[in-house]
Amino acid sequence: MNGNSKLMIIGAGGHGRVVRDTASLCGYSEISFLDDRLVDETCKVNICGGISDYAQYLSDHDFFVAIGDGTARRKIFTMLSQAGASIAVLIHPSASIGGDVTVGRGSVVMAGAVITNSAVIGEGVIVNTCASVDHDCTLGDFVHISVGAHLCGSVTVGQDVFIGAGSTVINNIDICPSAVLGAGSVVVKSITEAGTYIGVPARKVKSE
Ligand SMILES: CC(C)(COP(=O)(O)OP(=O)(O)OC[C@H]1O[C@@H](n2cnc3c(N)ncnc32)[C@H](O)[C@@H]1OP(=O)(O)O)[C@@H](O)C(=O)NCCC(=O)NCCS
Repeated sequence: MNGNSKLMIIGAGGHGRVVRDTASLCGYSEISFLDDRLVDETCKVNICGGISDYAQYLSDHDFFVAIGDGTARRKIFTMLSQAGASIAVLIHPSASIGGDVTVGRGSVVMAGAVITNSAVIGEGVIVNTCASVDHDCTLGDFVHISVGAHLCGSVTVGQDVFIGAGSTVINNIDICPSAVLGAGSVVVKSITEAGTYIGVPARKVKSE
């Protein structure tokens, strides 16, 4: 918490609801949502308004962008940051965070995730449920490490990379910005060109 007890979450989808649960355990007493799309009865949370309404909450709320899509997450994070919003870092109490780990603004570490010694986590990053990021890894801004994915030690992940559920990246690998790894991939060689990679070992199936 950055001093406010109120949190405004941007994005009221499934990811937003998991972020809310985490934020609640982090101590936020009043949690609300802004979302442009989920305004009908199928929505499971109370939405205060559209995203463009954010300005009226700047003075007494922390903010968090809970949008899985990295491009949208980056865009809204940047808008809020430029407006001077207080952007939260959320770490679930059941996550394990090692020594000398840094986690940037707007990042969330979900339940059961493990980040070990000297890892550096950028801004707007998602380390999702039960994922692990081992010692000396560096994650660029707006990376998403999906549910149950594992990075071994000293992996460097460029900004905007998406690592699919259950993937594994062996130690000492570099992954260039904007790469997409499909679910269940195993990366054994550095990835130097953006695109979509799948399989064991991971191979490129689509260019950017
Ligand atoms: C890799 C991925 C991005 C490709 O998506 P896409 O471009 O829409 O691809 P499609 O679903 O059209 O599949 C194309 C082919 O690749 C295969 N394929 C898709 N994803 C695959 C994967 N992860 N591993 C192996 N094969 C895969 C499909 O079976 C299909 O094969 P076919 O042509 O023989 O039928 C996507 O399938 C994926 O794995 N996304 C990760 C989702 C995830 O981890 N979410 C977690 C959120 S926490």
